[in-house]
Amino acid sequence: MELNILTICYLIGSVTFILGLKMLSNPATARKGNLVAAAGMTVAIFGTIFLYEEGGQKLGNYGWIFGGIAIGTIIGFFAAKKVKMTAMPEMVSLFNGMGGACAALISIVEFNHLLGAMGHSFDNINPLEFVNPGVFIIILLGLIIGSVSFAGSVIAWGKLNGSIKDFSFKGQHIFNILLLLVIVSLATYLIGWPPASPAILFYIIFVLSLLYGIFFVFPIGGADMPVVISLLNSFTGVAAACGGFLYNNKVMLTGGILVGAAGTLLTILMCKAMNRSLANVLIGSFGGSTTKSGEKKEQGNYKEITLSDTAVLMSYSARVYIVPGYGLAVAQAQHACHELEKLLESKGVEVKYAIHPVAGRMPGHMNVLLAEADVPYDKLLEMEQANEEFHNTDVVLILGANDVVNPAAKTDPSSPIYGMPILDVELAKNVIVNKRSMKPGYAGIENDLFFQPKTSMLFGDAKKVLQDLIAEIKNL
Ligand code: TAP
Repeated sequence: MELNILTICYLIGSVTFILGLKMLSNPATARKGNLVAAAGMTVAIFGTIFLYEEGGQKLGNYGWIFGGIAIGTIIGFFAAKKVKMTAMPEMVSLFNGMGGACAALISIVEFNHLLGAMGHSFDNINPLEFVNPGVFIIILLGLIIGSVSFAGSVIAWGKLNGSIKDFSFKGQHIFNILLLLVIVSLATYLIGWPPASPAILFYIIFVLSLLYGIFFVFPIGGADMPVVISLLNSFTGVAAACGGFLYNNKVMLTGGILVGAAGTLLTILMCKAMNRSLANVLIGSFGGSTTKSGEKKEQGNYKEITLSDTAVLMSYSARVYIVPGYGLAVAQAQHACHELEKLLESKGVEVKYAIHPVAGRMPGHMNVLLAEADVPYDKLLEMEQANEEFHNTDVVLILGANDVVNPAAKTDPSSPIYGMPILDVELAKNVIVNKRSMKPGYAGIENDLFFQPKTSMLFGDAKKVLQDLIAEIKNL
């Protein structure tokens, strides 16, 4: 009877994961989707704690289990409450690393169970020879993938918060490939021809996998970390699915596979939106400390616009498009931005937002930021839609965006962003760019747009500029 209830708990968990994931794909339902999936996870966890039985025995160890849950909940709650939107990829990376560590620990525990359960009864005989190779393969896969994901995520976290600098040496990619080959060969040997003391080899594989995770992420440019995190996230999913196989636990299996598939799709989509292959992200050092920013071209003059001229121009426009970018997130200017939008609309100006798929530093960054400020979802246009509308637009106000509006992506084959789809803002009648200086953005390259005749620069911190602009418009 109880087993049936547990099966139903797992079914609820699996269904809510899928529903939650579906709801996450739309900003209007994303928050609810997160809660739905979390509720399903809670049902699955408590179902396991109280209903799971093996050989007529319940799990027990409630003190340890609830102690762990309490500590994890407190840390998770405060970390999520405190984190700034710009530091979100860091937190995702760290949490993802914890998932990888869990998967690796499961493999270590289960490996020791195998040795413990079978080792004592067979003197002079290797216990692993009696283990189902399928089970052993899964244990090793969980160990390798989980360790790579853990170590890689910790390095990605350190790079994002600046505590770990980019590091690479000549021939590192070859070294990485060789290291991976050694790991796979040792694992194959351990499964096919288990030695007398398998534990030593098992832990060597564990340590080499951790090293591989470190060396795999080290040379990748700091700014490419979101793509790497998404890839490592898919690794963690696969490692968790291995745990699901081991324990014959359907909900762990479903959850792991969903995370693995979603992470893989997200990685592909991010690469596509930047028009880069995954290999280029993993091997190239685009956006790293050794960017091409040194190769400055002479660009000519740019012109500035005053706040009062901007206020007049925008107030007497019929249609204004706002292009948010990473700088908007840095300045935390989303609320001021929404206020400007409402003020202009009250004056009869139509205001919309043009959202580039990789604006900011993580997928959906701008959508989440604007949703936080209660900007209605129907005001957010995707890149393709916006590009069809720009020629009918009086003013495009670019707030802390740079690469996603750089025409070099279309015109300069030597540019590192050549081929990346961009917002065609130069089709509008007027372009106003707000940023703090003429410094380049993420790709470390100059932007021709800033020097075009219809472009005017409005320098300053996005939040301050927006607040002053609102005051100017109110005074008109
Ligand atoms: P960026 O090209 O990085 O440009 C952001 C600009 O914001 C900078 O030029 C900076 O200029 C300005 N800025 C910074 N702080 C500011 C502040 N407080 N107030 C006003 N402006 C400020 O950003 P983007 O256009 O959003 O492009 C995103 C880039 O990230 C793309 O190259 C994309 O490929 C990459 N990327 C994105 C993702 C995802 S999924 N979103 C993942 C990986 C990589 P100043 O310093 O002069 O102010």
